[in-house]
Amino acid sequence: MPKAKIAPSMLSSDFANLASEAARMLHCGADWLHMDIMLNYVLMLRPIFPIIFSNILLGPFLGSIAGWVDTLSRILPSVLLLFKVLESTLSNILLPLCFVTLNLDVMGVGVSQLKEEVLFFFFCRAYLDCHLMVTNPLDYVEPLGKSWCFRFYISHNWQELVQQIRSKGMTPGVALKPGTPVEEVYPLLDGENPVEMVLVMTVEPGFGGQKFLPEMMDKVHALRKKYPSLDIEVDGGLGASTIDMAASAGANCIVAGSSVFGAAEPAQVISLMRKSVDV
Ligand code: DX5
Ligand code: ZN
Repeated sequence: MPKAKIAPSMLSSDFANLASEAARMLHCGADWLHMDIMLNYVLMLRPIFPIIFSNILLGPFLGSIAGWVDTLSRILPSVLLLFKVLESTLSNILLPLCFVTLNLDVMGVGVSQLKEEVLFFFFCRAYLDCHLMVTNPLDYVEPLGKSWCFRFYISHNWQELVQQIRSKGMTPGVALKPGTPVEEVYPLLDGENPVEMVLVMTVEPGFGGQKFLPEMMDKVHALRKKYPSLDIEVDGGLGASTIDMAASAGANCIVAGSSVFGAAEPAQVISLMRKSVDV
């Protein structure tokens, strides 16, 4: 099995201090930084219209009330503190440069007048594992290509996107939502220029802190059996109590948000996860 890669999800970080949060994770032993890029207005509307906007547009409603409140309280301050973030990150100029687009087209919360979309500049030296949960991923290829993004996950319009992503010098990965059968990814792994990583979502995409779905391990197991050297990433609900399930199924790239950022000693959590994979 390929070596472990531990990728803290910046979605669980303190958005007002992204640069120092990124540096802290790298210092704690992270291999990659996992960047969840999604339509913020979807997240903000979800608490109000949970059925329509749950977990990226039309996914089944899985969130709890606590989850909505948590999401809202997380995202609202981040938007309002945007300029503080800009100030603090710009004063910490490290390369390479990465853009994360924050969509501020938010209805009824008093920030839509700021701008429809703001480019938020974030500097770090990390390998950025970019997970796109957007309805228009093609639009993101160009800006991410200019911004030193290294890995780019997509979940639909595979063929065209894979080609575009490679043309910008990035490495494409393919994300499988919980409801997508693993067989759907085989054509991309068996072709002439196979993609190098598959991300198996172990929660419904949308937000951090959800419960790990152990039934997704069947997909990981099937992929590992068929593709021994493939990078297989798992994302969602990973932590001390679930890492062994993921590792024994064959996952080697581990995304972890709340379990790392919520820990008193993130370095210990990262090290424990690494040991579970690299046995
Ligand atoms: C969920 C995101 C994940 C999330 C993981 O849609 O793709 O990357 O941040 O967070 P935890 O580890 O808290 O489940
Ligand atoms: Zn993710």
